[in-house]
Amino acid sequence: MVTTAEIIAKNKDYTLASWTAQNAWSPITMTRGEGVYFWDADGKRYLDWSSQLINVNVGHGHPHVIKAIQDQVAQISFAYPSIATEARGRLGELLEEVTPGRLSKAFFTNGGTDAIENAIKMARLFTGRQKILTRYRSYHGATFGAATAGGDPRRHGHGPGIPDIVRLPDPYAYRSPVYRGRTQAEGDAIMADLVEEIVQMEGPQYCAAILIEGYSGTSGIIQPSEVYWNRLRQICDQYGLLLIVDEVMSGFGRTGEWFGVDHYPNVQPDIMAVAKGITSGYVPLGATIVSDEIAAYFDDHVLSTGLTYSAHPLAMAAGVANIEVYRNENLIERSREMGKVLRQGLMDLAEKHPVIGDIRGAGLHQVIELVKNRETREPLSPFLGGLSEPMQIVARTLREKGMSTFVRWSMIFNCPPLVINEAQIQEGLDILDETLSLIDGYYEG
Ligand SMILES: Cc1ncc(COP(=O)(O)O)c(C=O)c1O
Repeated sequence: MVTTAEIIAKNKDYTLASWTAQNAWSPITMTRGEGVYFWDADGKRYLDWSSQLINVNVGHGHPHVIKAIQDQVAQISFAYPSIATEARGRLGELLEEVTPGRLSKAFFTNGGTDAIENAIKMARLFTGRQKILTRYRSYHGATFGAATAGGDPRRHGHGPGIPDIVRLPDPYAYRSPVYRGRTQAEGDAIMADLVEEIVQMEGPQYCAAILIEGYSGTSGIIQPSEVYWNRLRQICDQYGLLLIVDEVMSGFGRTGEWFGVDHYPNVQPDIMAVAKGITSGYVPLGATIVSDEIAAYFDDHVLSTGLTYSAHPLAMAAGVANIEVYRNENLIERSREMGKVLRQGLMDLAEKHPVIGDIRGAGLHQVIELVKNRETREPLSPFLGGLSEPMQIVARTLREKGMSTFVRWSMIFNCPPLVINEAQIQEGLDILDETLSLIDGYYEG
């Protein structure tokens, strides 16, 4: 039998890991997964508190999805992208049903990054304008275009990106000075005014789109209210910009609605990028979904884009099966309900552990931000640079105790699969409780 050490050694000797210096890569292994758990090669069980990369929404090893992929591969292993298949048409139809209002046609990609690349491309082709406005605290993917579009520090370090990305200040109620002494709605209104001013200064005739995550994700779940969203839609309409909503992470029930933007019923995207939960990661897939109007434009203009694996039959089958699972098992409602249990549990932890400065999110998409002092809100780890000592203790201890999740900057992400139950949420909260007890001493308030 291959040992854990051998698996890790070969991975490190022959493959490269993302977002890390290779010497700092100290992976766990995985040999199987079921529901909210997975197991390493030594048989240790992990509670998957972040659904891997916030994508395994239906949980590990779902039999309905596995069977759909198996059935499909037995029939069609590959079809080139302009071949029509039953699963492709069916997935397009299902996406039309579950996405908001005017979104009607999907272009299939391999993941989220290229869904964003193609959203930018289509917005530029459709409007004949170039500039794309995005938030600082956002992440949209790792290729040059998508990485430039994302504003958080992950864009640094690989040279110049693409031109004509314009950055917007963040509606960060917990930290932005704009919100001091103001309610969230008041601050959001000011932030939206700034967006309008930036559009005016950049020249609306050059601005193709505002690109924004439907519900903020790994940059810190920093989400403005309806006030901001309604104004974004109105600014886009007034100045002829498209609204591109990135639902790669927030889609498919993550926040307790089908999509993050569904929290704002008055806001209809022109383009939506999805990935992750569309297949829960069982097969790589993303999609750029466009409105009727944009789809009609491409009726007689060439859609100059393409990918060998666009609309891969296995991904199509996995997508159809996932949407069936979301519907049949009421996972969207479940995310909303279990999200309340998770949120209450995190609030109870905040009573015990003053290092918890802020709790943000919706549904099973929650983050806690840790601080040295609740008055000054000084973060427990600096925004730039590596993890501070207490955050390293957190990351190490969670892993030792069998919890797999994201720990970045001063934040711990709480985003388990949507199939999680109350007992499993409590199990996770208990691990967090024990872990935070180890760093209570770093609180300086
Ligand atoms: C909001 C958002 N957009 C885009 C991406 C990029 O997706 P992918 O990693 O599938 O290319 C991610 C990935 O985490 C994301 O969270």
